[in-house]
Amino acid sequence: MSRFRSRSDQAEPDVLGEDVLVVVDRAVDPYLVVFHDPSSFRAEQFRALRNQLIAMNPDGESKTLIVASAVKGEGKTVTAINLALAFAELERHPICLVDADLREPSVEEYLNLNPAPGLSDVLLDRVPLRSAVRDSGIRNLSVLGAGTRLGAPSEVLSVPRIEGLFGSLKERFRYVIIDTPPVLPATDASVLAARADGTLFAVRLEYSAKSHTKEAIRTVQDLGANVLGVFVTEVRGSDPDHDPRLSYRMRTHED
Ligand SMILES: Nc1ncnc2c1ncn2[C@@H]1O[C@H](COP(=O)(O)OP(=O)(O)O)[C@@H](O)[C@H]1O
Ligand SMILES: [Mg+2]
Repeated sequence: MSRFRSRSDQAEPDVLGEDVLVVVDRAVDPYLVVFHDPSSFRAEQFRALRNQLIAMNPDGESKTLIVASAVKGEGKTVTAINLALAFAELERHPICLVDADLREPSVEEYLNLNPAPGLSDVLLDRVPLRSAVRDSGIRNLSVLGAGTRLGAPSEVLSVPRIEGLFGSLKERFRYVIIDTPPVLPATDASVLAARADGTLFAVRLEYSAKSHTKEAIRTVQDLGANVLGVFVTEVRGSDPDHDPRLSYRMRTHED
């Protein structure tokens, strides 16, 4: 099974240069723009990111994709959900969003789903995968929540278990998007990224230290992750939805 094709053979992505895939601009809360404001410029940026990922997967094979960042609060979860929603808009693209942040899970909360047995329970063989993967209520989008809280999450994330899980999810879903805890404080994200087909890094401008992002990227690459690029969140500046240079929304004949 091949991974995503990288756009460059550079050993280390240029954090704020060529390898920036897309800029996810500052949005007013709530940030799940693909859901709340699907015709906005911000939602369109997630579709652009989705399209770039599709272009890196010319054979259309099922892929696992990690959304990572150096530290917490960089917008990983919001980006993972928006990206999953953008993929789910496509016909015949069943998508699974996995909350692998077993330390501070938040996918269910963002999606207003009640907590239920999920990833930790599957990894511990407490429930079968097919019953833990739930319908999100959104077409094409299924969710595997984090599951029962564990004392030592890294202990359940063994390589054979992760490989088994990724293999089973790829049989059923076209893209498996995996939200993770931050790379620097724990090994979970690196272990997951090492087995996944691609890893995207969130960098929150004016908040993240560039040195932390670089260190985190090196950490996951050293374990074998295929880092595809970074995406930038919370870019300050004019509101893109009211910037005439960026607006080309569909006009109706009444306009
Ligand atoms: N593009 C964005 N611009 C500004 N704030 C954002 C953006 N994406 C997310 N946020 C906000 O940042 C906070 C952390 O986002 P979250 O996705 O939970 O981060 P992480 O998963 O990396 O810890 C949330 O309060 C969220 O509303
Ligand atoms: Mg998160």
